[in-house]
Amino acid sequence: MRMGQSNSFQFQRQEARKRVDQFGKVILVGSGKGGVGKSFVACAIALSLSEKRFRTGILDIDIHGASVPDYLGVRPPLKSTREGLVPKRSHGVKVMSVSLLIGDNPIPMRGIDKQELITQFLALTDWGRLDYLVVDLPPGTGDELLSAFDLFAGKSSLVLVTTPSRNAVTVVSRLRRLAETEKVPVEGVVLNMAYIDEGRTRRTSPFGRMSKKTLEAALDSTILSEIPLEPKVNSESLYKVLHGRNNTSVAFRRLVRRWTGEETRC
Ligand SMILES: Nc1ncnc2c1ncn2[C@@H]1O[C@H](COP(=O)(O)OP(=O)(O)OP(=O)(O)O)[C@@H](O)[C@H]1O
Ligand SMILES: [Mg+2]
Repeated sequence: MRMGQSNSFQFQRQEARKRVDQFGKVILVGSGKGGVGKSFVACAIALSLSEKRFRTGILDIDIHGASVPDYLGVRPPLKSTREGLVPKRSHGVKVMSVSLLIGDNPIPMRGIDKQELITQFLALTDWGRLDYLVVDLPPGTGDELLSAFDLFAGKSSLVLVTTPSRNAVTVVSRLRRLAETEKVPVEGVVLNMAYIDEGRTRRTSPFGRMSKKTLEAALDSTILSEIPLEPKVNSESLYKVLHGRNNTSVAFRRLVRRWTGEETRC
């Protein structure tokens, strides 16, 4: 916490931490780099956990570019009860995004205000008990990210998302190092848009090809999963893609097993 923060902020932070106590595990999905598929990966992880009947929520803290509601097909307005704001539901996943609160309005906001907004948003949402909360982080290594590291401390680990382009990997390696400084455990890397399947035997790599060894060395992390460039992502619902017979759905089912094992919640 910073010097000079108000009593009301401290109260909100305590309330937010009470909510966090109700979560089994928090999976932060970040990159530092914009446009590499963080929101896509975060939503796919949440849907894949929910498919196994785990109580799952997703929190989108990308204040300036929220896209979780689009991927999961939810819209404002939010309702509230005495317990707080009621998350939207998408295929069993509880969904919360700042954009559900403010719609498409632009939000000019300084760092300290962002920290307060995210804290309040978490404190005011009636999540109930969750096995997993997935958090979609914005690009950059600014206040939203530092707030998330602080609010979920002790419960969270970070999944890094990158494409195989050198430029993306360089930016992601900065977040990797920041996570280490902030003592946030790193799960590993999801390599998104890694290849395009062209027939049964041919694969091309539109965003460059780095060997697994080079990539893992550059990010000092293990590659957990390689997700293809999936043309249907932009034309069908994500849920439909994840329930189709394709490499993307197989990759995400395998990925979530690192948290759930073979288990399905009864
Ligand atoms: N594996 C994929 N195959 C095809 N399209 C993809 C894939 N992953 C992401 N996309 C597309 O790339 C674009 C960017 O994805 P997304 O919004 O998830 O990235 P982001 O890293 O969250 O971006 P931002 O930094 O703006 O938050 C979207 O149009 C998305 O549908
Ligand atoms: Mg995003």
